[in-house]
This record gives sequence, C-alpha cells and structure tokens, in this order.
Amino acid sequence: MSLWARSLGSEPGRYLRAFRLFLSRSSEHQAMQAFVGGRLPPLLHSIGEGKEEINILSVGGGAGEIDLLILAQVRSRYPDIPINNEVVEPNAEQIAKYKERVATTAGLEGIRFTWHQETAEEYQHRTTTSRQLRKWDLIHLIQMLYYVKDIPATLSFFHGLLDANARILIILVSGSSGWAHLWKQYGTSLPRDDLCLYVSAADIAAALDAGGMRFQSHELPSDLDISDCFTEGSGDGELLLDFLTETCNFSKAASPVLKAGVLETLRDPACSICSDGKVLFNNNLEALMVAP
Ligand SMILES: C[S@@+](CC[C@H](N)C(=O)[O-])C[C@H]1O[C@@H](n2cnc3c(N)ncnc32)[C@H](O)[C@@H]1O
Repeated sequence: MSLWARSLGSEPGRYLRAFRLFLSRSSEHQAMQAFVGGRLPPLLHSIGEGKEEINILSVGGGAGEIDLLILAQVRSRYPDIPINNEVVEPNAEQIAKYKERVATTAGLEGIRFTWHQETAEEYQHRTTTSRQLRKWDLIHLIQMLYYVKDIPATLSFFHGLLDANARILIILVSGSSGWAHLWKQYGTSLPRDDLCLYVSAADIAAALDAGGMRFQSHELPSDLDISDCFTEGSGDGELLLDFLTETCNFSKAASPVLKAGVLETLRDPACSICSDGKVLFNNNLEALMVAP
C-alpha cells in the first residue's frame, strides 16, 4: 500500500458520502434494474425445473435492493414453488437495512429469508468444517468480488455448490469500462486497500476460464457524469475524484504530477466521452452467468 494517502475505505463517513454522490451521478442502479427486469429472466428460466423448493444464496447481498428485484423475477416465473433465500453479508448495518426492506415490501409471501453475518470466506469455512454443504439453484455475487482475497478458490467453491440447472450470477465493472482502464494505468500508484482489489469482470472471466467453468457474458451500459472533477475547487468534484481513485482527499494528497495524470486519463477516450458539455465516464458493468 502506498503511504502518501489513506484509502477512502478507511474513512467510512466520507466513503458513504462519495458512494451516494456516485449513485446520484451515475446510471449504475438503473443499469442493474434494466438487466434484472429484462435480460435476466430468460437466463434463469430453468433453475426451478422439477424442484420442490428454490434455493437462492446471496453473497454480499448488501441492503437487499437488487436481491428483492431478483426474487420478484424468480417468483413470477415459479409462483407455486417456495423460495429459500439465504444471505451471506458481513456488515451488520447492511443486514439491518435488508431486514427493514423485507419487512416493508409487499408480495414476499412464500419466501423464507435467513441472514448469516459473515464473509464469503467464513461461510466457506463454516459450512465445509461442519459438513453443512448444500446445493443451490442460484448463487449471486453482485459488486462484491473486489473484497474477496482468493478469487479462484471462491469461484471454484461456489461452483461446486450448484444444483442441476442452477446458475451463478456475477456482476462487476466491465473489462471495457473506464474503471478497468484507470486501474491499469494507475492501480499501482493509488493507495491499494487490503480490503479492496482492483479487479474487473475481465479478470473474473480469465479465472473462470482457467478453472474450466462455463459462462456467458452480458454487458450492462452505464455512465457516470464526472464533469465536476475538472472544476477546480468543486466539492462534489473532489468527492467524485476520491471515489474514482479510492483515495481520501485525493486532490490535496496527490502530487501535482499524479493529479494531472489521473485527470488526463479520466478524459481519455478509453475512459470517457464528451456529450452536451458533460464528461461521461464509462461505468459499464458486466454480468457473467456461470453454469454447472
Ligand atoms: C458494493 S456492495 C454490493 C451490495 C449488493 N450486492 C448490491 O449490488 O446492491 C458490496 C457488499 O459486499 C459485502 N462484502 C464485503 N466483503 C465481503 C466478503 N468478503 N464476503 C461477502 N461479502 C462481502 C459488503 O459488506 C457490501 O454489503
């Protein structure tokens, strides 16, 4: 880890403000909602075939926003089959929000929820050592593999838990996104947090290939308006720059050379396009559907 600055993750308050600003300036959630409501249902068409119960494992399910959208799709495909939805999520606050969401959402009858406050690695260790390994019809890992240390081992563990017709759904930033380009150029100069790896869907696809796991890839178009990053003294611009570089107070902490280089890369056509006077960063996501 570089010592010239702290990672944004080490300041939870600033991270949360930056993340909220990111969501309000990007089409990230809209892109996921469009995918889950449009292209995903046919891809999950057979997961409940011949089953008495559909078992879904959400790994890093966060506050459950996307989970409930996925459940609604599975429910409408299989209205008569009970669903068992288990969540592996280390953050207690996220679990509390998830529970609140479930309590205030209509139409979840016939879905059983269980939360395990643990990481993917802890889940693997607990279920393996206690011999509680079980099969799943859908396992999803959405925007969370950045936080897993041994990605090949994690992928191969969950792949081994797939039942017949089951799928793993992985969503991460796309290998063609501005993120992947920025990390290639500057990943080694930024304060790499032990808890966050600069991985994109391209790295995951390579790991799946190397492990002999079959998958299909789907691009989810999304952008992020980063125009404010180029306005000297803009508070929002500085917060967005922190989010893009995972660095606390990047504008003040970075050397002039590094700051100029990052800003130039952000404007590079490999990262962004200019449209209607705005600089739009390529925030494309990629969904990988892995088969047994
Ligand atoms: C960016 S959020 C994504 C939440 C949700 N999947 C979504 O897309 O809305 C990442 C989540 O992964 C969780 N997480 C972090 N490290 C993890 C690990 N090692 N195993 C499982 N979950 C983890 C975090 O607590 C957080 O809730």
